[in-house]
Formats: sequence, structure tokens, C-alpha cells
Amino acid sequence: MNIRVQSQAVTKIKSDMLVVPLAEGQHDNGAVRDLDAALGGALRTHLSHTGFSAKAGQRVVFPTHTQLPSRTLMLLGLGKDAADTETWRRSAAKAQAEAEGQQAKHLAWFFSDARPEADLAAVVEGSLLSAYSFDKYKSDKTPKRTAVDSLSLVGPGLRKTVALSRALEAARKTAPGVCLARDLINEPASVSTPSYLAEQATKIARDGGLKAEVFGPSRMKTAKMAGLLAVAKGSVEEPRFIKLRYTPEGRARKKIALVGKGLTFDSGGLSLKTPKSMETMKLDMSGGATVLGAMQVIAQLRPKVQVTAYVPSTENMPSGTAQKPGDIITYKNGKTVEVLNTDAEGRLILADALIRAVEDRADVIIDLATLTGACVVALGSRVAGLFCNNQELSDALMACGKQAGEAFWPLPLVKDYRDDIKSSVADIKNIGGGSGGAIAGALFLEEFVGDTPWAHLDIAGPAFTQSALPYSPRGGTGFGVRTLVRYVMSV
Ligand code: BES
Ligand code: MN
Ligand code: ZN
Repeated sequence: MNIRVQSQAVTKIKSDMLVVPLAEGQHDNGAVRDLDAALGGALRTHLSHTGFSAKAGQRVVFPTHTQLPSRTLMLLGLGKDAADTETWRRSAAKAQAEAEGQQAKHLAWFFSDARPEADLAAVVEGSLLSAYSFDKYKSDKTPKRTAVDSLSLVGPGLRKTVALSRALEAARKTAPGVCLARDLINEPASVSTPSYLAEQATKIARDGGLKAEVFGPSRMKTAKMAGLLAVAKGSVEEPRFIKLRYTPEGRARKKIALVGKGLTFDSGGLSLKTPKSMETMKLDMSGGATVLGAMQVIAQLRPKVQVTAYVPSTENMPSGTAQKPGDIITYKNGKTVEVLNTDAEGRLILADALIRAVEDRADVIIDLATLTGACVVALGSRVAGLFCNNQELSDALMACGKQAGEAFWPLPLVKDYRDDIKSSVADIKNIGGGSGGAIAGALFLEEFVGDTPWAHLDIAGPAFTQSALPYSPRGGTGFGVRTLVRYVMSV
């Protein structure tokens, strides 16, 4: 998609569809009056007939019958939240859908008032994200939608300042990273296997000039990745441990580790899931997909920090060779874990990656995982749980999530619950006391990070959506990529 910034009068803009976003009550502003004058008064008459007052979600689509250089007008109500960047992302999705329906290839947006760069970038981000679809397995190959191929951002005196160029560039590069994560998640588990993920990661590294390292079972054994090997025992698919590194030119300000759960299919193992709860378990590599998507973007945006991605990847399957409830794993750092439920496998493979990240002397570790159903019970499907041992890091991630339009909510690492994961035969066990399951999972991970500032993002809810969201169709959402990119760029 071609993106342009220009300064022009609203009645001079030439496009297939001209989008005029309006805050509630702003429906009779200068731009509307200018357009109305060019249309011989027909626009305001229509607005008053339809009761348009620019409430959230209200829209008016108006053909100009060649009285204006733009073919169609779309007045878009922003409601009372015009100051919220997320409103712009969602409005962009509405305009995008309308444009596709109108076969409009060239879309122009007219901003009556000066807007922060972040809002203009959000329009670009929302447009690119809502253009995503996953239809490679549909037999009907005729495109259902006409793609918008150019997007003009127009406003009185709007100029492409350095800050605006940067913001738009970041949006243009971030959206494909989100879409990459969505593709990896949406791909069926029999295709998107650990070795497939590793191949995709290697490709990302090659294209972006990143260093890639992929371990198969034998190097995993040498590296004592006990959790990953234990979970992989039940599967005929070989596990992979994926590591990608971006190193900036000059001195790195910080070393950031991004850890993502890459469980390509979670059947539960011998602690087998029910058929219903298995239906979407190809999603269980979303944390890994998110981290890989973010690395693709980071390679292009070139921040001044070192970023290393760690993605332990395996299937969790029941079989004659699968790990059994009661088995004990000994990790490289000496910690022993009693596996009481083979379905609490994510924490087992993440532990190996966290140990590695600590060994590599990361200054900050952020892990993303579809870790617990309990987190979905607590926060629903649109909000991720944020566990953190460092207030500054927690505040930074909350702020980045807000800017990115990705919702996080802090959950506590309750010290008193540490007793719940004590084992009678090993140091700890992989399940807690029954309730507070998201916290038990986080407390388990905390055992492996020492004093390193660390955040655990439980994305079990928002990683996948059962029905279409404003700018994400059903399936993998790529949730987390935008927050990670913003965080890394802000350090
Ligand atoms: N991958 C699941 C968590 C999950 C559930 C993700 C629903 C997305 C949607 C995880 O491996 C799991 O099975 N967790 C168990 C933990 C329990 C056995 C302690 C769970 O949540 O039931
Ligand atoms: Mn599981
Ligand atoms: Zn899982």
C-alpha cells in the first residue's frame, strides 16, 4: 500500500473514496460545509435527514456524482473518543471495509484538525491490519475484496515532518510483523510444526540480517534443555529451540530477551484435553509467533538495543513414549520439577528458555505465552495478564500496550502462593493448588529468572479470536507484536 502525506483543500482531493473523520458534534465543521457547498447543499440536507451527529460508529456514504474530484465521500463518526489512538485504528478498519465494498483503490483521509503523529500512524496501522485475511485453504480463489492500493493522508498544512515520517514508517513495518504472526498461528498444526517454525525463523533472520541458531534434539541434550525434551518425548515431530539475535551498530543500550512459547499443538499429552478444548490448540505457539513477528520488525527499525528471541518449540502429544504424570525433570540450573499434569507443559519448555536468557545476561526478559485457561477466566479473551517482578518494566509495558491498542492488566505474583507449587518429591511441581491457576503458572516461571527484571505476558485470551474483531478476522490476532516493538523502540 502506497502512503502519501499532503496539504490540500478538502474539495480538491482526488480519490475513489474520501474519508472525513469527525468527532461527535463536529459534524457541521468547515470541511463539511465546504463539501456541502460543492455538492449544492445536498450533503447537509442528507446529514440532517439521517440524523448524523458523528456519534461513534455512525457513518454516511455519499456519492459525489462527479461534483467533486473524489468519487465517494465517507463521513465517519468518532464519537467522544477522538483523543484515543485506538479510535483511529478502529475507524481505519471501518473505512477499509467500506472502501473494499465500494471497489475504491485509492483512499484519502481528510483531517480537519492537526492530529498527533500517533493518530495518523494508527490510521495506517489499522488500514494495513484490517486488510489481512487467511484464505489460502479456500478453494474459491476469486478475490472477495478489492485491495486498497494507496492511502493519502491530507490536512490543511499537513507536512511530512521527521516525527511523522518515523511514526508512519514504524506503522508500515509493524503491521506486516503482526500479519506474519497471524499467518504462523493460523497455519494448521500439521503444517506449522516445530521444524516449520524454525525454517520460518531462519528466513526472517536471513531477510533481516539477524543471527539465527536452531537446536535439534542432540544439541538440546548437550545444552540440558530438560523441559523441552520431556514434553517432546510424546511426539514424532522433532522439537526445535530457536534463537534469533539482533545486534545494533555501536554500543547497545541494553540487552533484551524475548521468550515465546512455541507449542505447535497442545493435546494435553497423557493429561489429555477434551475434543472441544483441543479445537483451537494450534494457537499454542502464539507467543513464539509474536516474538518472531516482532523480530522481523525490529530488524527493520534498527533500535539501539540488542534483542534476542528464544522460542522453544514442540508438540505436546500422548503416546507410548510420552512423559507421564509423576515424572521428575532436572533442569540445567539444578532445579527439579515434578510433572503432575502433562497439560501444564508451557511452563516446562519456557523454563529452559528463561535459564538460557539469564545465562546470556539479559538485562530484561519478557516472555509471552498462551499459558493458562485460568487467565482467560480472569480477564476474558481481549485482555492479557501481565506479571512482573519490576515496577518500572511493568509501567513501561502497560504504557506501550495502551499506545499499541493491546490491553494488558497487572496480576500479582503472590508470595504466599509459592507453597502451592512445592512438591513432596522434587523442588517444585508444575501445577498449583487448584484456584489462581494463572498466578501458579507465573510463580513457576519466576523460579527460573533469578533477579533479572522480567515480565510474563499470559496471552491465552487475546492471542486468538473466535469471531472477527475491529481489525482482526477470526483466528490468530498477532497480539503482542505491537507492544513489543513499541517497548523495544522506547528503551
Ligand atoms: N495451552 C494451554 C492454555 C490455554 C488454554 C491457552 C486455553 C489458550 C486457551 C496450556 O498449556 C494448558 O493446557 N494449561 C492448563 C494448565 C493446567 C493443567 C494447570 C489449563 O489452563 O488448563
Ligand atoms: Mn497444555
Ligand atoms: Zn499449552
